[in-house]
Amino acid sequence: MPRNTTRLRLAGAVAAVLVAAGVATGPAAQASPEQPTLAQLAQRHGRYFGSATDNPELTDTAYTKILGSEFDMITPGNGMKWYATEPQQGVFDWTAGDQIVDLARRNHQRVRAHTLVWHSQLPGWLTSKQWTAAELRAVLKKHITTEVRHYRGKVYSWDVVNEAFNDDGSYRETLWYKTLGPGYIADALRWAHQADPHARLYLNDYNIEATGPKSDAYYALAKDLRARGVPFDGIGFQTHLALQYGYPTTLKENLSRFSGLGLDTALTEVDVRMQLPASDAKLAEQADWYRQLTEACLAVRRCVGITIWDYTDKYSWIPAVFPGEGAALPWDEQLHPKPAYQALREALS
Ligand code: G3I
Repeated sequence: MPRNTTRLRLAGAVAAVLVAAGVATGPAAQASPEQPTLAQLAQRHGRYFGSATDNPELTDTAYTKILGSEFDMITPGNGMKWYATEPQQGVFDWTAGDQIVDLARRNHQRVRAHTLVWHSQLPGWLTSKQWTAAELRAVLKKHITTEVRHYRGKVYSWDVVNEAFNDDGSYRETLWYKTLGPGYIADALRWAHQADPHARLYLNDYNIEATGPKSDAYYALAKDLRARGVPFDGIGFQTHLALQYGYPTTLKENLSRFSGLGLDTALTEVDVRMQLPASDAKLAEQADWYRQLTEACLAVRRCVGITIWDYTDKYSWIPAVFPGEGAALPWDEQLHPKPAYQALREALS
């Protein structure tokens, strides 16, 4: 038997054992002798390395090739949000989310599902009506239960509640908070857990990477939820950083204190934007930030993985929301790796 065939058969046998053990295999986990993928490098540390994606991009085959090979965790950027999944009350549409879950499955990737309870991207029927607390509670329970059941067994985790706090650590005055009070968070976690007891359940937010009032609010809430036995597994640090605001130097100690509560943490939406035009100096600084944040996660045992908020500047959300800013991701608009990509590889090596 030629050596290559033997090697292929061996790899197949190893993959079968890994699949049986629930470990991701396939393109994202197949060894390439020259250069392991980010996912493979992260797996050596018991971590994943993921990317967000969005449905319109999936027709771009050059894009999907890298998406399917370099990462082992995928997050739908929009497809599982309320406006997409329950566009009319009681009418559920899984088209967008299913497309991404199916793609991830074909590529042997896991899915971080995003997101069940948020104040943004809600359908008109939900935001245009005055709800009583009892009505809204029923609407929320039905949405969570139906969506989590639909994806039961197909996703690794859920961002159950997204962006619940203001920067000063006070509760954000959302539809949910104003109508239901802060108890909506524990309720959402309980309903999600009932619908899929194996999904890892997260609270997820931005501007909590450094210690400060907002991350303190999460710490206090997490401690309280743990003490009350509310089912809940982790905190997602979105990690939308900007060169002009400085690196969050307390990231590692902050991740550690949540580990101390017995919680997982994850960097869930990483990007590092800059004021355009990009320059070699800015790209070098950006690379250094990607290196540092990766090292911070690797240094904290329960920081389980890193997801970038899409992998290429071609599909970044930044320019539409922060005019004049961008170049935030490790691959440029032509899908060429930037210094940040190399920095990630080095940090994971
Ligand atoms: O669906 C419409 C489409 O019909 C229309 O033609 C098009 C024209 O602009 O807009 C489309 O909606 C856009 C939607 O993404 C889907 O592409 C919205 O305008 C756009 O605002 C929306 O942006 C998303 C943003 O969340 C909304 O807040 C981004 O793609 C998505 O990456 C971003 O993700 C959030 C996370 O969920 C939470 N954390 C912050 C992060 C970045 O904002």
